[in-house]
Amino acid sequence: MSPTNDTNKSIEEQDHLSQETKDMLLSLPREKGWRTPYIYLFQGFWCQPAEIQAISTFQNHFQAKDSDVFVATVPKSGTTWLKALTFAIMNRQNHFISSKNHPLLSFNPHDLVPFIEYTVYGKHDKVPDLSKFHEPRLFGTHIPFGSLPNSIRKSNCKIVYICRNPFDTFISSWMFVNKIKPPSMPTLKLEEAFEMYCNGSVGFGPVWNHMLGYWNESKERPKNVLFLKYEDLKEDVIFHLKKLAKFLDCPFTLKEESEGVIENIIKLCSFEKMKELKVNKTGTFGRNFENKFLFRKGEIGDWTNYLSSSMVEKLSKIFEEKLYGSGLKFRVK
Ligand code: A3P
Repeated sequence: MSPTNDTNKSIEEQDHLSQETKDMLLSLPREKGWRTPYIYLFQGFWCQPAEIQAISTFQNHFQAKDSDVFVATVPKSGTTWLKALTFAIMNRQNHFISSKNHPLLSFNPHDLVPFIEYTVYGKHDKVPDLSKFHEPRLFGTHIPFGSLPNSIRKSNCKIVYICRNPFDTFISSWMFVNKIKPPSMPTLKLEEAFEMYCNGSVGFGPVWNHMLGYWNESKERPKNVLFLKYEDLKEDVIFHLKKLAKFLDCPFTLKEESEGVIENIIKLCSFEKMKELKVNKTGTFGRNFENKFLFRKGEIGDWTNYLSSSMVEKLSKIFEEKLYGSGLKFRVK
């Protein structure tokens, strides 16, 4: 079978895709995927077929409200943690942090802060009814800044962004993919995944473009885009939670501070606490994967156990070049 026929067959077999998406895929550059046979270069970033369909529907139909909040992230950079923290901060009047019934004790953060491209717009090519969402609406996304619908970019809504040093992000992604990939996909070797990551062909990558898109916007519009790094959040979580609450226009009061509300949020959303919850030990994210795989080590610098010195040199050089002049830097240990 010729490569073209092979491509057509693999696309045609995907029942969940509309004919329009299938036609579009045929025109896009593609590379081997991490957990799907192929990923496609769509609007300058790499993603899976179902994501392209969901993102297109989102772009065509979503109407932002000024009160909307988005948690935007590079995959495997602390999405779960930031969703939990943002949810806890924004909802602390309705859901007291120390309540035994707090939603974060029985739901995974991805259920409480749904992903645009998997949950909200991920149901085939149907346009979802968003009227059921309470305001302020809180969504999550991995979509690069430049591909968010115009109504978001032009509205006054807020975006909280987190990324992480590329070494840890890479190792976390590689480990995660090998745990959740379908049995039909072979195990992805470290060396192969590393080359794909360095070439930019990883979900929502190139990662450096993803970071720079939100970084530049956070400089232009600091009231609308807050740029965070996993390492900074780990180093001084109290400082960053205060910053986050202020950014979201719900700063902690002195009374809340004296009552230990900030410390209680930190505890509720901590890696150790979340990992041990029943919902995160036994629950699943749709039919895609088990929640337990979202909680691995939660440390800075685990990459030192996996990457060779030549890999470190290569990835450091790529990021130095790509981020040159932007002012964006990372702590790696
Ligand atoms: P490791 O694989 O390095 O352990 P994401 O949520 O974007 O998928 O990112 C996953 C990474 O965040 C994993 O990193 C995971 O262990 C870590 N993580 C998950 N929950 C966390 C939390 N509450 N605090 C800190 N890190 C957390």
